[in-house]
Amino acid sequence: MSQRYLVTGGAGFVGSHLVLALLRGGASVTVLDDLSTGHEAAVPKGARLVHGSVADPDALGRAFAEGPFEAVFHFASLTLVGESMREPVRYIAANVAGGAALVEACIRHRVARLVLSSTANLFSEPAKIPIDEDEAIIPGSPYGESKAMLERLLFWADRIHGLRSACLRYFNAAGADPDGEAGEDHRPETHLIPLVLDAAAGRRPPLIVFGDDYPTPDGTCIRDYIHVADLATAHLAVLEPLRTRSVRYNLGTGTGHSVREVIAAAEAVTGRSVPHTIGPRREGDPAVLIAASDRIRRELGWRPRFPALETIIAHAWAWRQRNPHGYR
Ligand code: UFG
Repeated sequence: MSQRYLVTGGAGFVGSHLVLALLRGGASVTVLDDLSTGHEAAVPKGARLVHGSVADPDALGRAFAEGPFEAVFHFASLTLVGESMREPVRYIAANVAGGAALVEACIRHRVARLVLSSTANLFSEPAKIPIDEDEAIIPGSPYGESKAMLERLLFWADRIHGLRSACLRYFNAAGADPDGEAGEDHRPETHLIPLVLDAAAGRRPPLIVFGDDYPTPDGTCIRDYIHVADLATAHLAVLEPLRTRSVRYNLGTGTGHSVREVIAAAEAVTGRSVPHTIGPRREGDPAVLIAASDRIRRELGWRPRFPALETIIAHAWAWRQRNPHGYR
């Protein structure tokens, strides 16, 4: 009998790529998603969709009726840093309540392992770059705060109930399924790479570069872009250690790229120019965020398969070319 997994938020960007990886490994997958930001068409064929929120006991009941699950992956969440700065109470309340309801259900249904989608936004004042797992947690926004709270909740769920968990702090998730079966489609889109590609394709107005007066070599912000398929394999890699202990890992490639470098790489990949103008800084953007992912490399042997920015952009571009309007 194949192993069964529950993926909350499996209709979203990173979640749908994990569902694909699980299905390709022969697993059975139940997706719990309220489709508030995810897309029904993004749920890979072969997965069962339970339509509803993690905060809704009835929806959680319907999802857990499909178990027992080997492990639960929790992606369902409000995820926009900027929006969370305008609506802090809604962000923290929704993300913490949803996560807590899920953890409670995992304990009740005797799920042994849970993987939390966490964020680099835990580290808004890094003492050193690259950022490792010993860095102080100082969330940069209510969004990051909500993830920090869930990480603490999981600490106690392990200590008291023995629920093992992995907290995976993604840096900048990007790219698309290398086989073209899934891609990135946020509405509204706020992420750099899809905005750059749509500007190159003439589907959006010129990109506004948020500030060119940062203390970086070319004045624009530096980020660590990690391929979404590599994030998916990291989620699979943590399942083994979770049999005996909880873990937390920072996930990136260890290499940073500035906004100008992303634009140049997109121009090289697409063969088009990326119209752009320089605007003011965006509030809350740190100058440099790069992950030290040595710990997961050392402990689990995980490596990104697609570390090159050009590959990440090429996969995103291929999907966008075939799906110019995203998921219908
Ligand atoms: N940027 C622009 N113009 C745009 C959009 C983005 O110049 O129109 C710049 C940003 O200023 C930033 C870089 O491109 O320097 C990347 O911006 P994104 O919005 O794509 O990503 P962020 O680094 O802001 O945020 C990401 C995730 C968050 C996560 C955060 C961790 O999207 O969920 O990393 O710090 F919390």
